[in-house]
Amino acid sequence: MTPETIEAYGVRLRRTRPGDVPDLVAGCGDPETRRFLPALPDPYDADSARWWITEGEPAVWAAGGCAYAIAAPDTDRLLGGIGLTRLAPARGDFEIGYWVAPWARGRGVATAATRALGERAFAAGAARLELLTHRENEPSQRAALACGYRHEGVRRAASAARDGGRHDLVAWVRLADDPPGPTARLLPDLPGGRLGDGVVTLRRLAPADADALHRLHTLPEVVANRVPPVPPDRESIARRCRLAAGYWLAGDAADLAIVDAATGALVGGCALGYDEPTAGQATVGYSLLPEARGRGLATRAIRLLAGWAFDIGVARLWAGTRPENVASRRVLERAGFRREGLLRGRMPGADGARTDAVVYGRLASDRD
Ligand SMILES: CC(C)(COP(=O)(O)OP(=O)(O)OC[C@H]1O[C@@H](n2cnc3c(N)ncnc32)[C@H](O)[C@@H]1OP(=O)(O)O)[C@@H](O)C(=O)NCCC(=O)NCCS
Repeated sequence: MTPETIEAYGVRLRRTRPGDVPDLVAGCGDPETRRFLPALPDPYDADSARWWITEGEPAVWAAGGCAYAIAAPDTDRLLGGIGLTRLAPARGDFEIGYWVAPWARGRGVATAATRALGERAFAAGAARLELLTHRENEPSQRAALACGYRHEGVRRAASAARDGGRHDLVAWVRLADDPPGPTARLLPDLPGGRLGDGVVTLRRLAPADADALHRLHTLPEVVANRVPPVPPDRESIARRCRLAAGYWLAGDAADLAIVDAATGALVGGCALGYDEPTAGQATVGYSLLPEARGRGLATRAIRLLAGWAFDIGVARLWAGTRPENVASRRVLERAGFRREGLLRGRMPGADGARTDAVVYGRLASDRD
């Protein structure tokens, strides 16, 4: 890559300069930037910014990568930074990284800059660009998808955290001949962010749901359906709530809160896992808090979830329930599922035993 200015998609990529120091300090000192870019100096002051301009950025170029300021084409004001790090020269692969200053977020700057730099890199011979994000970094994962990057997997403990620990990074990758994006998602967003029938509302799980969800998943009758059947601790449930957006974007699972539409309170949870995308098959699970049972809310939730699943292309939904779980079997029957059979010893039970599961299925063609 050669260091000339790139202008495309409404952003300018140019070298940083001394006049950028105040904006670099404000942008790199921002808590969100610091959270997701833990290698930045801490604190990030004017000396850090001057070091970046005179030493850090030139060193990236000298190592075969590139580093740019993202600037507004009309005012030339700094909006963020973006660059490539050469991974293995013989393989033509690079890591792409970026940040956008708080005053420029949420208006497509990261998406525009990633498109612009990616096109330039591929034109210069790059074969593969890899973008590593924290699983909780929803805007960055959305930018990756918008630019045609695909979910490849998780790099375990790939990043050093500021507290001395390590955390996983999700790998999003784009090849030179991949389509430009956005990447088609197995699990699109819910229309308008929610599903509802006036009585129950389904929405994506959120960090604030942790207490209610923990209470739900530690009820003995809910634990009995978990794999393995042991109560989760509060932190694992809090983590599940924090990671729900990331798992959804990756196409792993749609994890939802069932909310009482009248009160706004979380009364249960349900999830859709796309267990066999190539065969068009997905599975559903659900549970309700005791005070919400007996009012048909689970049936309503599963009907809503099934309707959405068929709308996004699922051909077959299935659910398994323990034979003695009469209420759950009734929910499935009332939501249009048919009993298909019994899987012996399907689930791990208590004390090393195995429990059977009655299997129910509903096809897209079964609708109404
Ligand atoms: C990640 C970051 C660079 C995104 O910059 P941005 O310019 O706001 O991103 P864009 O406006 O291009 O938006 C990208 C996508 O995220 C979505 N998005 C933006 N802000 C969001 C938010 N707060 N919550 C959820 N989604 C959000 C946008 O709608 C868009 O999604 P879409 O294509 O589905 O519509 C910026 O938030 C940032 O600098 N964060 C701190 C540093 C960082 O995380 N760097 C990346 C490390 S991998």
